[in-house]
Amino acid sequence: MIKLSVNTQTLLAALSIGLFVYYFIKRMRYRLPPGPWCIPLIGHYKIYSSVEMHKKVAELSKVYGPVVRLSFGTQTWIFLNTNEVVIEALVKKKADFAGRPKSASTDAITAGGKDIAFSTYSPTWKLHRKIAGKALRNYLQGDLLENMIQDNMEKFLNKMAQEKGPFIFKDYADMMVFHQLYTICFGQKLPIDDPEVKTLLKLEENLIEDFGTGFVEDLIPCLKNICPTAKWRNFLKLADQLTKLISTKYRDHVDTYKPGVNRDFIDSLLAAKEEAKNEGDESALEKLDDTRLIQTISDIFLAGVDTTRFTMDWFVYFMTRFPEIQTKCQEEIDRVIGARHPSMRDRKKLDYTEACLFESMRLGSVAGLGVPHMAICDSQVGGYDIPKGITIFINHWALHNDPKFFKDPEKFDPYRYLDENGKKKPARPDSWLPFSAGSRVCLGETVAKPEMLLMCANLLQRFEVRLPDGEKANPEYKQLGFGTELPSEYKVIVKDRIIKK
Ligand code: HEM
Repeated sequence: MIKLSVNTQTLLAALSIGLFVYYFIKRMRYRLPPGPWCIPLIGHYKIYSSVEMHKKVAELSKVYGPVVRLSFGTQTWIFLNTNEVVIEALVKKKADFAGRPKSASTDAITAGGKDIAFSTYSPTWKLHRKIAGKALRNYLQGDLLENMIQDNMEKFLNKMAQEKGPFIFKDYADMMVFHQLYTICFGQKLPIDDPEVKTLLKLEENLIEDFGTGFVEDLIPCLKNICPTAKWRNFLKLADQLTKLISTKYRDHVDTYKPGVNRDFIDSLLAAKEEAKNEGDESALEKLDDTRLIQTISDIFLAGVDTTRFTMDWFVYFMTRFPEIQTKCQEEIDRVIGARHPSMRDRKKLDYTEACLFESMRLGSVAGLGVPHMAICDSQVGGYDIPKGITIFINHWALHNDPKFFKDPEKFDPYRYLDENGKKKPARPDSWLPFSAGSRVCLGETVAKPEMLLMCANLLQRFEVRLPDGEKANPEYKQLGFGTELPSEYKVIVKDRIIKK
C-alpha cells in the first residue's frame, strides 16, 4: 500500500517536472514581449480586476515598450500600445491577427461563438460579415437613414423641450440610439415610452455591466461547471433572455417575409438566405442557419448600442464643458443648414461639428481596449514573437492619448482634424482609431459616423445645451471597465434656439 502511494507521488512529481520542462522549452522557442514579473497562475490579477486596466497598461508601456505581456490565470495577453505596432498587427499582418480568442463569457452570450464579433476567423465569419455589412449599407442609400434619424430625433427633442428643469442627457442618448437601432433591425418605430424597448435596453445594460468587470470563469473556465459564481449564473440568465427576445422577433420576420420586400435589417439577412437557396449554394445555406442569423442581430445591438449612445453622451458633455465650442458648431449648422432638416448631403460641409465629434471619440473612451484579437498563426509584432493562440488587445486609449500624435492629449481640440482654413484635413491623425483597423474593423463604422453626426446636428440646431446655472463640468470620469469610460453623471438644461420646424 505504502509502496503504491510512493509510486503515485513519484509519478505526479515526475509529471509536474515534465510539464514544467515542456512549458519552459516551448517558451524558450519564442522571444516573447516583456512584462512585469508575477506569481504563476495568479498573474497580474490586480491589473485584470482594475477598472482602469487601459491606463495601467499604458503606464507599463512607458517602461516595457509598446508591446506589453501580462498573465491572467492560465492565459497570456499581449497589449499593443502605439499606432506603429497596431498597424503592423492589424493592417500589415492582418491575416495573422484576425482571430478571436474563445472565452466562457463570450461563448455563453453567442451560442458558442456563432456571431460575428466574437467568432474567430473562418469562411462562416467572412460570409456573415459580408451579408451584415451589405444589410447595413442599405441604410446609406437614398434618404433612408436620414429620414429615420429625423423622425426619431424629432420625438425626443420635443420631449426634451418639455423638461421643466435640469435633466440627465444620457437617459435621452440611451433611448434615442436604442430606438434607432431597434428600427434598423426590426423595422418598427415605437413610441418613446414603449415597454419592450425599455426591457431590451435594461437587459443590454446589465449584460454589458457584467462584461465590463470580467468573470472569474473566464480565467478559470472549469469553475463554471464546478461552482459557478452568482454573477455568472445571473449573466447566463440575462444572455438567455436577450436571445429569446431576439429569436421571437426573428421568427416573426421569417413568418411574414415576402421576397422582394425589404422592411429592415432582418429582412436583408433573410433575402441573403433566399438568394443562396435560389442559387442552390448549399455551402452558403449551411452557414446561414437560424442560430447564426439570430446571433448577427444580437451583435448589432451589443456592438452598436453602447458605443453610439456613450459617444453621444461624451459629445454633449464636451459641448456643455466648452460652450464657446458649442456656439461655433451652431454657427456652422446655421450657415450650412439653416432651419431645414439636416441631411446626409450636409455631412460634407459640417467640418467643424464633425471635428468636435471626432475629438469626443478620441477623448471619450467608449471601447478603450476594443475587442480582443487572437493570433491565428505564429507571428511577430514590434520585433517580438507572438505565438499562435495568444490574445492581443489594442489599447485604443493609449493610441488616443499618445503625445506623439496629439499635442497636449488631455486638451479638447477640434483643430486636430482641420487645416488652417478650417476645412477637414484629407486624413485623420494616424493614431485616431476608435473603430480599429484591418479585417476586423468595426462593421458599423459607415453607419455610425453619419448617424452620430446627424444626431449632433439635429440637437445643436434646435437647442442651446447648457449646464444648470452655477454648475461646472466635472473633469472626473466614470470607469466601467475594459477601457470604457463615461463622464460622471451630469445634468443639462436646453433652450430652444430657432423657430420649431
Ligand atoms: C461610436 C460607435 C462605434 C465604435 C467606437 C465602435 C468601435 C468598434 C471597435 C473598436 C470594434 C472592434 C474592432 C476590432 O476587433 O479591432 C468594433 C467591432 C464591431 N462593431 Fe463597432 N463601433 C461603433 C458602432 C457600431 C455600430 C453602430 C455597429 C452596428 C450597427 C457596430 C458593429 C460592430 C461589429 C458587428 C463589430 C465586430 C466586427 C468583427 O468582429 O468582424 N459598431 N466596433
